[in-house]
Amino acid sequence: MKIAIGCDHAGVALKNKIVPVLEELDIEWEDFGTKDEESVDYPDFGEKVSEAISKGEMEKGILICGTGIGMSIVANKFPGVRAALCSEDYSAKMSRLHNDANVLVLPGRIIDGKTAQDIVKAWFKTSFEGGRHQRRLDKIKAIESHLKCQ
Ligand code: RB5
Repeated sequence: MKIAIGCDHAGVALKNKIVPVLEELDIEWEDFGTKDEESVDYPDFGEKVSEAISKGEMEKGILICGTGIGMSIVANKFPGVRAALCSEDYSAKMSRLHNDANVLVLPGRIIDGKTAQDIVKAWFKTSFEGGRHQRRLDKIKAIESHLKCQ
């Protein structure tokens, strides 16, 4: 599995804390930037990661900004992207089990490195449950198709 990581300047420090976890989990990753703490605009990096997932070029992604809110707004505009903003590992686990989230969004200015590492581990170790949850995802897909036709 190859995953895309993107962040703005407010997410760089947390990104550097979670990269060792990806390596520990043997997950291949590509850094879509930004790479330093010079001020940038989160939509530019959210777009790169979300587009790659929407087009099927990457299976999953991680996005980080200060609160995680801006990146969530951007990511969830892309068809097929299900981005989940998580500040603790329970939500991270549930976002995989019930929502089949394919983008994990983290708030770089709110959680510490250890919390982020626990979230990333929980997220990657949990699989989608399917069943009634698949029916709900199909409804989301139907909403996307309906909006595309308008
Ligand atoms: C950048 O200052 C900040 O606005 C951004 O990282 C994010 O929190 C936006 O939602």
